[in-house]
Amino acid sequence: MKTIRLSIIGFGAVGQGVARTILSKKEILHKQGIDLRVIGISDSKGSEINVDGIDLKSALARKKQKGTIAKGNEGALDIIRDVEHEIVVEATPTNIKDGEPGLSNMLGAFDSGKHVITSNKGPLALYFSQLKESAEDNGVIFRYEATVGGAVPIFNLIHESLAGNRVMGIEGILNGTTNYILTRMAEERLTYELALKEAQELGIAETDPTYDVEGIDSACKLVILANSVFGQAATYRDVEVTGITKITPEALELASKNNYVVKLICEAGNGTLTVAPRLVPKKHPLAVGGTLNVASILTDLAGRITISGKGAGSIETASSILSDILYIVRNS
Ligand code: HSE
Repeated sequence: MKTIRLSIIGFGAVGQGVARTILSKKEILHKQGIDLRVIGISDSKGSEINVDGIDLKSALARKKQKGTIAKGNEGALDIIRDVEHEIVVEATPTNIKDGEPGLSNMLGAFDSGKHVITSNKGPLALYFSQLKESAEDNGVIFRYEATVGGAVPIFNLIHESLAGNRVMGIEGILNGTTNYILTRMAEERLTYELALKEAQELGIAETDPTYDVEGIDSACKLVILANSVFGQAATYRDVEVTGITKITPEALELASKNNYVVKLICEAGNGTLTVAPRLVPKKHPLAVGGTLNVASILTDLAGRITISGKGAGSIETASSILSDILYIVRNS
């Protein structure tokens, strides 16, 4: 049995989704000879550490009951630096002003020789090349499948399945909240405000939903994708962005009458990065509805490959994180 010790830094929807997924996959992983042991969990109020493995069921129950995992006062960096383990799962909330606390957590993990898996977009949208270099300098693995497209395995697809291809361009919908709003406004004639409220109730909108509707969340994801695929060193501020706040129900209705839908489309290629509402024919592969995300990748050998799926959600995001965990288990 190969034992892999992990910490979960940040115990919100994503961190709890990871704990639930590790619990639900325990037996099947054991059958594959893999024992995933969570030795530390932290949230903004404190932490729990157990070098023999935390009982995830009671940790989840305590979080639900008390609103925190805290049993001790150790902070995230105390776990990351001082407790022996192999993988840090960094799932603190996205902060696109300075990337903290995720940035320091990730750099601290690399410096102490730990692999990092993250769902946290902020540090990567600001400091992608610095993080990548730090991981390389320290000889550890850095995986971030969950940062773009939630459950959609876009980095795996491009870097593993399409290995050897040259990617010429990428276009897609990388924000579920705006896609949901545009779909509900067009199909049910809901007002923008009501559709946004519904998206917030679904738990997919950012804490500050202006990040969604102004296109900033899409820009962050596009820049992570472009940096990873094209080796760029851009930040989300390099993306030309137009959000969806000025789209009227009349514009959506007119588009529909002509067999089009309006979608917030991200585009990368030829060195340009743009996020803007575009008219898409109703039967086009990019015309996915509801909270779905979609990415269409144009390559030299495989031609165009389009992939779609759930771009947010606790268990869906944990799917990408588990896949990154298993990549590290197999490649380290
Ligand atoms: N607010 C984001 C969205 C969450 O709507 O896609 C997932 O990153």
